[in-house]
Amino acid sequence: MIRSVVIGTGSALPARRVSNAELAEQIDTSDEWIVERTGIRFRHIAGEGETTATLAADACRAALAAAGIEAQSIDLIVLATATPDQTFPASATKVQAMLGIDDCVAFDVAAVCSGFLYAVQVVDSMIRSGVAKRALVIGAETFSRILDWEDRTTCVLFGDGAGAIVLEAQDTADDGGRGILTTKLHADGRHNELLYVDGGVSTTGTVGKLRMKGREVFRHAVTNLASVMTESLAMAGLSSDQVDWVVPHQANARILDATARKLGLAPAKVVVTVDQHANTSAASVPLALDVAVRDGRIQQGQIVVLEAMGGGFTWGAAIIRF
Ligand SMILES: CC(C)(COP(=O)(O)OP(=O)(O)OC[C@H]1O[C@@H](n2cnc3c(N)ncnc32)[C@H](O)[C@@H]1OP(=O)(O)O)[C@@H](O)C(=O)NCCC(=O)NCCS
Repeated sequence: MIRSVVIGTGSALPARRVSNAELAEQIDTSDEWIVERTGIRFRHIAGEGETTATLAADACRAALAAAGIEAQSIDLIVLATATPDQTFPASATKVQAMLGIDDCVAFDVAAVCSGFLYAVQVVDSMIRSGVAKRALVIGAETFSRILDWEDRTTCVLFGDGAGAIVLEAQDTADDGGRGILTTKLHADGRHNELLYVDGGVSTTGTVGKLRMKGREVFRHAVTNLASVMTESLAMAGLSSDQVDWVVPHQANARILDATARKLGLAPAKVVVTVDQHANTSAASVPLALDVAVRDGRIQQGQIVVLEAMGGGFTWGAAIIRF
């Protein structure tokens, strides 16, 4: 049976790291408020010359090096982002050019904070159907460029960054084999006004700024994330006590705690990077995954659950035998 196996992970962050105290010098907020309500302490903010595509390409170089393979052997690049370098072409094609890959399939996926989970399902389907053999799946964002820096209820919550994985088609045994076991996605477009950008090519002709009703998003996030994780574990025939690691979308430490509690998962099994990176939207899951792989927590053969929820609403989960 062909499965998509993670053979390398990588990530990249902008050089500039901004603390809550630094933000409090410009807007009416405090380190205490941000830490207590969100768990966030730092975020990285892209500077001149740092874009979604440059961060994505850096994350890919790290993932390719970890996998020990040449960029030329990649036949598919899928980049999840809500903050592309240009309206078109897809930033994935910029990444392809930056990596020096002569020919492959390359396109972007837009599902905001769940974008990486959407990209994983698309790539996993293309690998299992034989269309692709080795793929880069990327989540990369520069949300700092769509934040309203005068709106303290949103601008303190987000950061920039990128994460990438290399997925390879491998013939693995039906049980006990490594690879992506299940993916499950959802969308409910009725909640557009709870989390959106107030501009767009086809409406205002502008880029727009992020708007969010945080309290309502919070409530939906806990319910949807707990339910999609339960659903995907059932699809994989696993119980929550067989899970070694949960790598959640890093939006808010209180959402992570509440979701883990709902599923009866020990907090020690949840990878948390929101304190260091804030919410990096589609980049947050692959960034956190790379941190936990590189520090040695996530080991080959372990059961790893990825999950995310974002604007749309969209939400999803993936179960991987790493
Ligand atoms: C955004 C969030 C942290 C706000 O926390 P909350 O407990 O709901 O706080 P509220 O929005 O009710 O605001 C409480 C008070 O803090 C104030 N406040 C808001 N932002 C603030 C800030 N950055 N600094 C200081 N005070 C702030 C509000 O003005 C309000 O003051 P008031 O009571 O005098 O009106 C929380 O709702 C949240 O995390 N939501 C989920 C958001 C998210 O993760 N979205 C992404 C999903 S992909």
